[in-house]
Amino acid sequence: MAIAYASGKIILFGEHSVVYGRPAIAVPVTQVKARATVEEAAEGRGITVVAHDLGRTYPLDQATPDDPLRQIIVSTLERLGVGLGHDLIITISSTIPIARGLGSGAAVSTAIVRALIEYFGCRAKSQLSPQDISALVYETEKIYHGTPSGIDNTVIAFEKPVYFVKDKTCEVFQVKRPLLIAIGDTGVPSPTKLAVSDVRGAWEREPSRYNRLFDQMGEVAVRARQAIERGGIEEIGHLMDENQRLLREIGVSSPELERLIGAARKAGALGAKLSGAGRGGNMIALVSEETKGLVVSALREAGAMAVIVTEVK
Ligand code: MEV
Repeated sequence: MAIAYASGKIILFGEHSVVYGRPAIAVPVTQVKARATVEEAAEGRGITVVAHDLGRTYPLDQATPDDPLRQIIVSTLERLGVGLGHDLIITISSTIPIARGLGSGAAVSTAIVRALIEYFGCRAKSQLSPQDISALVYETEKIYHGTPSGIDNTVIAFEKPVYFVKDKTCEVFQVKRPLLIAIGDTGVPSPTKLAVSDVRGAWEREPSRYNRLFDQMGEVAVRARQAIERGGIEEIGHLMDENQRLLREIGVSSPELERLIGAARKAGALGAKLSGAGRGGNMIALVSEETKGLVVSALREAGAMAVIVTEVK
């Protein structure tokens, strides 16, 4: 049997503007993971998918063409050059909450690709790099999200902090001083597809205003990368606040996000913002060893459904 995992992710800077070609920064969150196993099934049974979290078990050949699990399995088998005629049980589970901006869809797909690579080992006709894995997962991301920038599949496939510009740049970069980030879940689903298409509608109605806001978000991401590489913790906090101000202006914040962001700032966080598509989902706050406990308690008191503290390094 082969087992593989993939971590969740958060966007530190540049969600939404990244869809319009501006730079963004994302980092893996290793505390939450998707897991996939591949094992041999009885002869003639074909491929069966067991999706624990969705409460579904089904033969692959009965899945609809837009089923993302089917899509990633078929495309990976084709890419590995091993054909589709195998008897396999592929089991998926995940501790990454769905539709909260933590990249659950991309992580499940990445875990499946990694487990298939592991299972076929040297029987595969081609070996896949993180870049190849990311490209396969990107195709499935389109089913989940419509017009994804590609940042989620990239950061999850590389499992390192990435500086990303759609269709142009994907750079893994160094974090000078580890960043402690508290991640607070509003408990409200954040359907990426909907938020992204609302922003697109607003951009089409007011292109110059939105382009200006996206430019400012891009500049924040550029300055943030420099600050992260320099270890300028205070500046990173200011830039998170500035990014949140801009996200508010494009209309993707929400009262629940604002309540958690306000509570984190009041409890001593150096900066805080939503992370991912917004409207709900998660917010992130930059904390220190000293303020960590206070911020976590403040987030829980303000109604966070779950709080994770992760170290970015
Ligand atoms: C989703 O994690 C981030 C967005 O910028 C969408 C995307 O990049 O595809 C909102």
